[in-house]
Amino acid sequence: MSRILGINISHHCSFAFFEDGVLKEYYEEDRFNKLKNFEPFWIINQEVLITGYDTEFDDTYEYQVLKKFKDIEFDQVIFASCDRAYMQIEILVIKNFLRQLKCKEWYFNMRHHHLYHAMSGFYFSGFEEALVITCDGGGERRLSKEFQCQSLIATISKSNCKIHYKLYSNQRSNFYKCSGPEWSKEHIDYEDGIDHHHTNKLVCGLKYIQYRDRTPFKSFQEGQMMGIAAYDGKKTNLDPDVLAIASKAQEETLQERIEAIERAKTYNDKCKNLILSGGYHLNCANNFKLVKHFPEFNFFVDPIAHDGGTAVGAAYLMSNRKNYEDHL
Ligand SMILES: [Fe+2]
Repeated sequence: MSRILGINISHHCSFAFFEDGVLKEYYEEDRFNKLKNFEPFWIINQEVLITGYDTEFDDTYEYQVLKKFKDIEFDQVIFASCDRAYMQIEILVIKNFLRQLKCKEWYFNMRHHHLYHAMSGFYFSGFEEALVITCDGGGERRLSKEFQCQSLIATISKSNCKIHYKLYSNQRSNFYKCSGPEWSKEHIDYEDGIDHHHTNKLVCGLKYIQYRDRTPFKSFQEGQMMGIAAYDGKKTNLDPDVLAIASKAQEETLQERIEAIERAKTYNDKCKNLILSGGYHLNCANNFKLVKHFPEFNFFVDPIAHDGGTAVGAAYLMSNRKNYEDHL
C-alpha cells in the first residue's frame, strides 16, 4: 500500500493524504488554528523581520492537522510552496514539518507551484486528457527572485504531462522594491521544450493585486473586489470609484485569460477538455464568461483553485510518478 502526503507550505497551508493513488483526506490548517489563510512563513516572518535571515531561529509551530497522522509512516512526503525568495525560509519551514511526522522519503521542488495547481485540477476533473491553464498572483521563481511564474499552459493525461508555456512577470519586484528587472523588454526562450515568456507588464493576479492597492481592500481581499465588480453601473451604495477600479481589473484580466486560452489552442488544437486552476480562477464571474466565450470546450474549474490545492497536485503527481517522472 502506498501512503503519500502532500503538504502545501504556502498560504492556505494544507495537507492531502493519498492512499494507493486516491485522495483519502484533505485538511487546511486554518480551519483548526483559526488563522485565516494561514501560511507557515507568517510565524517565521515575525522573527526574521526583527533579527534577519541568518539567525539560528527555529520554527517551532505545532501543526494541528499533523496530529491526525501521528500513527502513519508515509512512504513519501512532498512539499509544495510558493515563492518566498529565500530558500533558508523554505528549509526552516520544512524542517519543522519533518520533526512532526514520520516518512521514508521527502521531496521539495520550488519551481513546480503551477504544475501542482494543474495536477490538482486534473485529478479532480476525471478527464482522460485535458488542456490546463493556471493563473496566479505570484507562484514560483525563474532564474532570479525578480521574475515569478504567473501562468502555465499544459496538456495532461493520466500517462503524461507536457508543459507548453510559462509566463513570468517581474512586476512583483516593483511592489516590494527589490532590485530592478533583468530584461527591459519582453523576452522568450525555449528551454526544455517549454516557451518561457518574460514580461515587464502587469499580468494575471498581479494586475488584480495592483488594482486592489488603489482601493480600501487589503491583501487576500481580491475576491471581495471581484465580487463587487458586478455592481458597476447599477444602483448601489458602494463607492463608484472603487467599483470602477474593480470593473476595470475584471475586464482587463478577462481579456488576458481569453488570450491565454487562444494561445493554449495553438499548442493543442485537438483536445476539447479545458481545466482552470490557480487562485485567479476563484473568479466565478469571469470563469462563467470564459465558458460562454469558448463554447467548444468542456470546462472544469479546480475545486481547490487556491494554493491549498497544490498539496493535492503534488501528492497526485508523486502517486503517479512513473508517468510523470520528468516533473519530480
Ligand atoms: Fe498559486
